[in-house]
Amino acid sequence: MDGNGRWAKQRGKERLYGHIEGAESVRACCELAVEMGIGYLSLYAFSTENWNRPQDEVIGLMNLMAKSILEEKPTFEKNNIRFMVLGDRSHLSDELKRDIDKAMEETSGNTGLTLIVFLSYSGKWDIEQAARRYAEDYKSGKEGISFENYLCTAGIPDPDLLIRTSGEQRISNFLLWQCAYTEFYFTETLWPDFRKPQFRLAIETFASRERRFGKTSEQIK
Ligand code: IPE
Ligand code: MG
Repeated sequence: MDGNGRWAKQRGKERLYGHIEGAESVRACCELAVEMGIGYLSLYAFSTENWNRPQDEVIGLMNLMAKSILEEKPTFEKNNIRFMVLGDRSHLSDELKRDIDKAMEETSGNTGLTLIVFLSYSGKWDIEQAARRYAEDYKSGKEGISFENYLCTAGIPDPDLLIRTSGEQRISNFLLWQCAYTEFYFTETLWPDFRKPQFRLAIETFASRERRFGKTSEQIK
């Protein structure tokens, strides 16, 4: 979800104003995902590297996260949404961790859309923490376990489609392992302007692509 800062700047406002408007795009995209019966929607909200932003922006983003979780809880229930937050929790405040755990617990039985917010996440961090735990288990004699089960996305299918807004064309340390066969979609639209019509267009574009997973066109027919 990129471009909140530029969106705010274009309007002569503070960056946080763009993040707040971006939260509206999150709501709209969740709604469309529910309407379309999409199984999983993952949002890259805050990377490990984002901790290096100015302190007031970091605090603003964390507060916005806490506020959004509390505000959206009734929607999770109403729309049968299973809510998850994944990432390196070590830098999160105790209060935020509590709110996250509570929302995850309360929605864990929901069977509709799984909404995953990646918070304080980086793909390299994920692979490292997985490798460490994998090596420990390997040393203690556990065998035949798939490495993927150690990534924090264990049990969650790899993404079919990755959308990056605001004209940037890079992965910026998101799901490095998991995106091995993901389709990429880039758009100039800034995240606060990315609403249902834009999301629908991305999904339609994705639907018209042929995915071969290394095979030939004839093989997958
Ligand atoms: C949102 O957009 C991404 C977050 C880390 C919350 P940005 O804040 O990166 O917006 P730009 O790139 O400055 O426009
Ligand atoms: Mg950015």
